[in-house]
Amino acid sequence: MTERLNGKAAIITGGASGIGAAMVQRFAAEGAQVVSTDVQTELGQKIADEAGALFVQQDVSAADDWDAVLGRVNKEYGRLDILVNNAGIVAAKSIEEIDLESWHHLLGINLTGVMLGCQKAIKAMRDNPGGSSGSIINIASTSAFAALPGDVAYTASKSGVRMLTRSIAVHCAQQALNIRCNNIVPGGTHTAIIDAAQQVVPDIYDRVAAMSPMNRMGQGADMASAAVYLASDDAGFVTGSDLLVDGGMLAVHPGY
Ligand SMILES: NC(=O)c1ccc[n+]([C@@H]2O[C@H](COP(=O)([O-])OP(=O)(O)OC[C@H]3O[C@@H](n4cnc5c(N)ncnc54)[C@H](O)[C@@H]3O)[C@@H](O)[C@H]2O)c1
Repeated sequence: MTERLNGKAAIITGGASGIGAAMVQRFAAEGAQVVSTDVQTELGQKIADEAGALFVQQDVSAADDWDAVLGRVNKEYGRLDILVNNAGIVAAKSIEEIDLESWHHLLGINLTGVMLGCQKAIKAMRDNPGGSSGSIINIASTSAFAALPGDVAYTASKSGVRMLTRSIAVHCAQQALNIRCNNIVPGGTHTAIIDAAQQVVPDIYDRVAAMSPMNRMGQGADMASAAVYLASDDAGFVTGSDLLVDGGMLAVHPGY
């Protein structure tokens, strides 16, 4: 590893599984002081212990939980350099199937949770010793560009995240804060979300791989590499951007 994140304090939400777990491992290996959060405590603690990270139980949709996480980071490190808003869920319901409770539940985690994280992180990053600084990375999805008819709430939440990121990026720049905010746009990535779908769609792995002209699924490590770049000082002039890590999925004309 290159220690590109040496000395930086990072929060990664949804760190117990999939993309988040890969980021916890990679960020720690790159020298960051990582706080991993999740609603899954046992798995979250295990992944954090293996990586040499701290684990804090957190529901990202709860404002009080964010205050507790930020308080812990401040107590441990006295600064916050990186926030990755990664935690997310799917609903797998079309517009004709979705009920109001499922809609609010998903939006509460995938969109409101991201907004809360950004709001709380900016407050902390403003007060960093030596002046404002930081990198916020929001995990969007290719469904922010091309809709999933079978998951209306997920599609709406991820397109919301996509523009939320831009609004925050421009606000921070115009306020002369040295705080960047960018999206990572994963294509189909082999995680628990895809494993769960396999029970309903037996050939899901082949179907997801075929969405990319590279004919493979993404791996958590692919997303972690992109996140290291955006979190590092190498991305100092990158804000408000969508970093597509989708194996070319959105580059190809449908049918080709
Ligand atoms: N896997 C894919 O193909 C894919 C593609 C595009 C985007 N994404 C996005 O990547 C992110 C990570 O997904 P993944 O594929 O690693 O899924 P995953 O299910 O493996 O991991 C998601 C994690 O978020 C946690 N989580 C759920 N609700 C939470 C809450 N309220 N508070 C805190 N943590 C909570 C879960 O416990 C889990 O550990 C999600 O935002 C997802 O939408 C995934």
